[in-house]
Amino acid sequence: MPISDDKIAEVRAATDLVAVIGDTVRLKRQGATRFVGLCPFHNEKSPSFSVDAAHGLYYCFGCHRGGDVFKFVQDTEGVGFLDAVRHLAERFGVPIPEDEADDADRERATEAEALTAALRFAGKFFYRQLGTGEGAEALAYLRGRGFTDDTIKAYGLGYAPDRWDALLNAALEAGYDPDVLERAGLVIRRREKDGFYDRYRGRVMFPIFSHTGRVVGFGGRQLVDDKTQPKYVNSPETAVYQKSRVLYGLYAGRQEIRRTEEAILVEGYTDVLAMHQAGLANAVATCGTALTPDQVQLIGRYAKRIVLLYDADNAGTGAALKGAGTVVANLGLDPDDEQATRRMGVGEVLKKGLMVYAVSLPPGDDPDSYTKTHGAEKLREYLGTHRMDFVAFARRAAERAGRLATADGQAEVTDELLDVVAALPSPLLQQTYLKRVAEEMDVPTPSLAERLEQVRRDPRRRAAAPAVADATLRPEPSAPPAPAEIALLPPERELLVLMLEHGDPMVELVLGHMALDEFTDGPARRLAATVAEAYEEGPVERDGFLSGKYGPEAQALVARLLAARPVVSDGWAKEGANVRIDADESAKSAMTLLKTARVDAEIERQEGRVRVAAGQGTDALEAEQRRLMALHTLRREVQARAFLHGDA
Ligand code: CTP
Ligand code: MN
Repeated sequence: MPISDDKIAEVRAATDLVAVIGDTVRLKRQGATRFVGLCPFHNEKSPSFSVDAAHGLYYCFGCHRGGDVFKFVQDTEGVGFLDAVRHLAERFGVPIPEDEADDADRERATEAEALTAALRFAGKFFYRQLGTGEGAEALAYLRGRGFTDDTIKAYGLGYAPDRWDALLNAALEAGYDPDVLERAGLVIRRREKDGFYDRYRGRVMFPIFSHTGRVVGFGGRQLVDDKTQPKYVNSPETAVYQKSRVLYGLYAGRQEIRRTEEAILVEGYTDVLAMHQAGLANAVATCGTALTPDQVQLIGRYAKRIVLLYDADNAGTGAALKGAGTVVANLGLDPDDEQATRRMGVGEVLKKGLMVYAVSLPPGDDPDSYTKTHGAEKLREYLGTHRMDFVAFARRAAERAGRLATADGQAEVTDELLDVVAALPSPLLQQTYLKRVAEEMDVPTPSLAERLEQVRRDPRRRAAAPAVADATLRPEPSAPPAPAEIALLPPERELLVLMLEHGDPMVELVLGHMALDEFTDGPARRLAATVAEAYEEGPVERDGFLSGKYGPEAQALVARLLAARPVVSDGWAKEGANVRIDADESAKSAMTLLKTARVDAEIERQEGRVRVAAGQGTDALEAEQRRLMALHTLRREVQARAFLHGDA
């Protein structure tokens, strides 16, 4: 037993479920302790993901995933149960004594944890170097670029000394395994001889945080311009760093993104930092790669709009751009770009329910320089006044590229825009944007509407629009086989909930008077059977079900059952006895209802048999009628709750 149940309960109690889920999902309050939001596990436009703070659980009514806070962390972080407990213990300050983790367990500490520890060490090491002789130059550089000491500290900026073994030696001394350092992307294995050397040398270091705040990699910038060397050296992909799923600035900016419902996509680390420092903390950047569907999905958890903020020089070319440009690439603005197919088109972003806008800065400026010369207020204002929707943006870009000079070219661009419109998720949006295309391209709306129909039907066009796999969500979590339709009768739902809420005495009352096959075949009966098994093993506790002790199916179903359940108020809970009497009475009446329903169904079947027998002679008929009478008697007994007194 690596972490005791008591400890797990303590971590659970200390954990703020809403805060944890709120880091990933934009939650809206819906009642004292209930919240709703867009499900992070499947793609949806209207919220069916619900968080029940009072019961400490979440459940998605769309994809049927649910569980407790541990399950949530498991599925969003892709870690196991114990790692989820440790992660939350660390975050909410619950000490887990080392001796609770036995040797074998420590050995098993996942690869992810080992890499994360090494990366965290490296981050601290680089930060500390700013205070050393060699690092002083880097500190002066950062200050010279206008970054305050607060920013430097908050974003963990640092310096990698210009040596082959600075980090390597410090990490070895601190007990880190060089193989782990290599797998974390921090050092590189020498080709000819044994040993390793530092990946980052003589560079200003920008740690990259996952959206949950762990250091997963670094970007290292030249301290002095040297055209023979790359300006940035970036971490490779590792077990904890998938570039396509990370956005620089998202962790620090997540609150602001949620508040403004808007993420501003810029190009570089320094742009993000300058904007955050200026109070525009909703800026994010990809880490030297094209914007991916995963990243759009990630933004979509926090924001409703993506604003692409361009340098003027790049606007419309799509080629020099890494993040922002990719979104326009599929508009056909850059047909020669062989990467275009791997990139996300505006249509794909819109399909994910996000609105896209673009702003291009005056010539010669990037967000960093603009903020520094004009200040945050001016940039904020500029973002408001120069915002173009994708139609306007695409038209302008096409114009610059000389594509609107001929009627053919115009028709081509119009068709490309209609492709995007056809991909919009709702008819209403399609109408809105159809009008916008009509305005921008100066074509009457009705003829465009006709053309839109043609575009919709043209299979060649449809094939051309790259499909975005929804399977690119987060890990395919230990998905419960999403029960498309869970047939649960209200009384059996009530009985299952009562057993989970009240534990052993209630299990004895219910399962002592019900046969398993009185529960509906399928999930309901399986859960009842699982409760019976849990009872054999020890006390029945809902928390065990919620944390997955009895498997993913039970976990999801229990979350679902409890999610819609009113809370027993504290006042009630104190009068435990009363609650019990009440609960016992609820259970008895639910059992009565369920048994009655079962008998009624049997009566109906029996009536059928009587009708059949009516044509087969008196003996057969009498026998069937007797059975029918017996069922009616049974029904009366059930109604009188005779089943409860059998053992009295
Ligand atoms: N980039 C990269 N590798 C390079 C150049 C750029 O990975 N050799 C990525 C980095 O993520 C960088 C972004 O592209 O942040 C934007 O590049 P650039 O504008 O050249 O760098 P900035 O971060 O803006 O740095 P600076 O302001 O110092 O020029
Ligand atoms: Mn720059």
